[in-house]
Amino acid sequence: MPRKVNYGVDYDDDYDEYDYGYEVEDNEETPPEQETIKRSVWRCAVCTYDNDETMSSCDICGVLRGPLLKNLTYDEKRAGFNSLAANIFYLKSSRVHSIVVGEDEAVKVSSKRLDSSDVSTAKDKHNRLDEITFNMQSSGKSLLSLMPKERNVMVANSSSSRNGGKAHDLASNLKNISFSAESGHSNDTNPGRANSYAQYKPEKWMLPGKTEHSLAQLNLAIVGHVDSGKSTLSGRLLHLLGRISQKDMQKYEKESKLQGKGSFAYAWALDESAEERERGITMTVAVAYFDSKIYHVVVLDSPGHKDFVPNMITGATQADAAILVIDASIGSFEAGMDGTKGQTREHAQLIRSFGVDQLIVAVNKMDVVDYSKDRFDLIILQLGTFLRSCGFKDSSVSWIPLSAAKNQNLVSAPSDFRLSWYHGPNLLDTIDSFQPPPRDFSKPLLMPICDVIKSSSQGQVSACGKLEAGALRSGSKVLVMPSAIIATVRSLERDSQPCTIGRAGDNVAVSLHGVDANHVLAGGVLCHPDFPVAFAKHLELKVLVLDVATPILIGSQLEFHIHHAKESARVARISSLLDSKTGKVAKKAPRCIVAKQSAVVEVTLHEAVCVEEFSKCKALGRVFLRTLGRTVAVGIVTRIVEV
Ligand code: GTP
Ligand code: MG
Repeated sequence: MPRKVNYGVDYDDDYDEYDYGYEVEDNEETPPEQETIKRSVWRCAVCTYDNDETMSSCDICGVLRGPLLKNLTYDEKRAGFNSLAANIFYLKSSRVHSIVVGEDEAVKVSSKRLDSSDVSTAKDKHNRLDEITFNMQSSGKSLLSLMPKERNVMVANSSSSRNGGKAHDLASNLKNISFSAESGHSNDTNPGRANSYAQYKPEKWMLPGKTEHSLAQLNLAIVGHVDSGKSTLSGRLLHLLGRISQKDMQKYEKESKLQGKGSFAYAWALDESAEERERGITMTVAVAYFDSKIYHVVVLDSPGHKDFVPNMITGATQADAAILVIDASIGSFEAGMDGTKGQTREHAQLIRSFGVDQLIVAVNKMDVVDYSKDRFDLIILQLGTFLRSCGFKDSSVSWIPLSAAKNQNLVSAPSDFRLSWYHGPNLLDTIDSFQPPPRDFSKPLLMPICDVIKSSSQGQVSACGKLEAGALRSGSKVLVMPSAIIATVRSLERDSQPCTIGRAGDNVAVSLHGVDANHVLAGGVLCHPDFPVAFAKHLELKVLVLDVATPILIGSQLEFHIHHAKESARVARISSLLDSKTGKVAKKAPRCIVAKQSAVVEVTLHEAVCVEEFSKCKALGRVFLRTLGRTVAVGIVTRIVEV
């Protein structure tokens, strides 16, 4: 039932088959349709005009001929995109619709291009495979998604409401970062788009009807330090709620025992790959679903190991709410809280920086500490102070003592008398106490692409991700960015089931036609053809430096993450240091920024990314910076300096 998807490139056919795709050039058995392409012309993927072989860009609309934007220089890409953007902005919408290329034609043309220019040498092929392997390992898999909002549940008396010293400054900094996007400059690089946003009128079908009784979707990220029991908790919950059959459960128990990993039986429901099972760790995000009384919950079970933080991020960026799983055992909670090696702090900071403000702290493995109330209270005290410093409100954090392995306090009141001191709600009821998250139904379509599923046998491509704004249905025209190609939605799936409409908040797989599979990239965005997302490489950010030892200097090289895209970045300018309490400029042009300081900086990226200013679209305007395997700063995009 759970689904795992590769982030980057995902094939529902054999991996080998993908490899062979690049052999086509030398292969006598090239599919017949590729033979039918005339060598003297190439068809523009956007306007379908047949251009002379000598043309490098379309004679009619100016779109570049190259099949993969990645292979072009930045200037070439920009030229291609600007040409298309110009067409999109200046053509009437009827014209935009009329330039959609036929599906078969697009596939044929791009296959030809791949044959002739993209993979002509064994070395190229090798590079390509490296790239794919890298994506799979470092960027994680994918998912489907969901939503929600605040609540407190508290439990036993706890001293968690006490404020912890220096935590305050960091909290106010984060608040400034999270909520004061308007404090950035408002130099709009695309004023036409900004105006149009206000003018956009959604069609009736795009808005949920009052008569629709379906459960609201809640995208719930399960995060926390390695081995804290995230997958066991997720698996146990799914089993208790009937989403994993008894037969499957017995199979997991038997197989895990045979491999000497009997304690991982529930985790096996989520950790599906041989490597994950052998190593006993989650490496990519697993997606599963269950219905509570109030929500259709999409579970995003994240990896906790530090090597897979980028994968965790892929899931967490789609979250509406989160469960932070803590291992209560002596030494394990402390290891998770360790500033350099533990992931509890990093995960908490990351999910807060993604906008998640409703959190359940599941204090797991309470069986190991004899369900000790003292231990539970100590964890609340220490972790509570830190969560407050990240910007979580006490009233939006719920603390639940439980044991996933012993089924205590998951979907019913604890049966073990040692937990009799706890009188709060169980985990499932606490999930139902989340407030539904707001959804941008009436804004133009925006869907960051988390995964791409290609079927080389059927020539189909699906883009997967969470709809951040707007709606889709079959027949809808979408602009695929950064390729800048208009495609048509062939069909939609939600929770691996066909559906007729996808709306903001839904996690969907969108099958597209009219676009070659190589033009649909994880890290890209599907948007409304009349409202293209910006594509830029020079950005102004407002950042908060986390608790790191190394200062950030002009010239620092960092890993830049935004929705599902990752690029290397250079700090080009530190414009100002901000006062931690007021958010106002405290010092202009400082030489460096250090831990817990917030600042306005400019970064230049190696390659452009799809981006929006935070004030326009939160999901496409949140960033975080990493280096040497650690997140060093979180922030928001305040200005697109240059496309
Ligand atoms: P990563 O995804 O690799 O970060 O690990 P995880 O957080 O998903 O942990 P996982 O569910 O794989 O469990 C790790 C180990 O903790 C397994 O041996 C589980 O059986 C054990 N475990 C999980 N929950 C409990 C619990 O409530 N009590 C006890 N005693 N052990 C538990
Ligand atoms: Mg796991």
